[in-house]
Amino acid sequence: MEKKEKKSNLKTRIFSGTRPTGFLHLGNYLGGLKGYIELQNKKNYDCIYAVVDLHGITSPYNPKTYQDNVREIVLEYLACGLDPKKCHLIIQSQIPEHVELAYLLGTIYPVSRLEQLPTYKDKKKEQPKYINIGLFYYPILMAADILLYKAQFVPVGKDQSPHLEVTREIARAFNRHFGQTFPEPETYLMQYSYIPSLTGEGKMSKSKLGSYINLIDSLPTIRKKLAKVPTDSGKGKKLPEKGGVVVLLMLVELFEGKKKKEAYEKLYLSSGIKYKGLKDELAEAIYKELKPIQKKRKYYEEHPKLVDEILEQGRKYASEIAKQTIKEVKQKMGLI
Ligand code: AMP
Ligand code: TRP
Repeated sequence: MEKKEKKSNLKTRIFSGTRPTGFLHLGNYLGGLKGYIELQNKKNYDCIYAVVDLHGITSPYNPKTYQDNVREIVLEYLACGLDPKKCHLIIQSQIPEHVELAYLLGTIYPVSRLEQLPTYKDKKKEQPKYINIGLFYYPILMAADILLYKAQFVPVGKDQSPHLEVTREIARAFNRHFGQTFPEPETYLMQYSYIPSLTGEGKMSKSKLGSYINLIDSLPTIRKKLAKVPTDSGKGKKLPEKGGVVVLLMLVELFEGKKKKEAYEKLYLSSGIKYKGLKDELAEAIYKELKPIQKKRKYYEEHPKLVDEILEQGRKYASEIAKQTIKEVKQKMGLI
């Protein structure tokens, strides 16, 4: 990454997005947003972060409250530390070129490849009565989001790796057919790019009740959620490799430090861990990190005009780039 950075005098473009499907949770924060923030703080990086509302409507949703959901993500983006002086915030559907590019890119990608994607297969199981074309087209629209801005790095959790692979395949196919146009974007992964579910099975996910801690949760709520994490007797000859204890120890490391985690691991292998104490301390540590985020969220909630201005600036900035890319793509494809 560093090498590429030095070769070019131009700014390195970064793009990522989150679906407005509910309050953000620790998985989104640790796997996604922390990466967004890390990159906005680097010199010579030009970051665009989106609320991908067109992706959100591929799963069942309520149109009457959808605008609130979109706003919520913007508030949480700002509250977590996305700084409009260092990055641009956009709402995907306000820039129609995303859809236009998605259609164009869809014409050079095989149906068979989309059908094999693990994310599509999972969704089919998760929402068997809602298998729509949008869901099928999801990875193409995501590729369009990224390629529209010619982004080189995409901060996302590990769950998005198959989608990034599709994006790279599309970039390569386009360049091969129509001449060099798009860079092949790379995933920018955080150290913990996969946060497991509090249930001890699968990933922390908005669509799985009981699996997550939200960024807006109060201390009593965090305590209650941690209390439900399944544990064991607290000691053994070997450290557990899966289940609730693994999740707890990962969160201990992330919120209380590596040393603390190692101390618990030693206890596990000797006199044993008392989970009540571990969970109480962990709840405090998580809340300590979330409290300033919640305060900042409230500030932006109380200053809606400021938020509108930030979004308008983002829209204008991104629109310019989007128009240029679409023009170039249409020219190369022989449409103009
Ligand atoms: P989503 O809510 O699915 O739109 O995800 C927004 C961002 O959070 C994406 O970058 C995801 O990869 C990331 N993310 C979601 N869940 C997790 C998780 N359990 N662990 C790590 N990253 C996650
Ligand atoms: N698929 C991503 C998720 O579920 C959201 C997304 C849509 C995205 N377009 C994107 C992420 C472009 C990164 C870049 O989290």
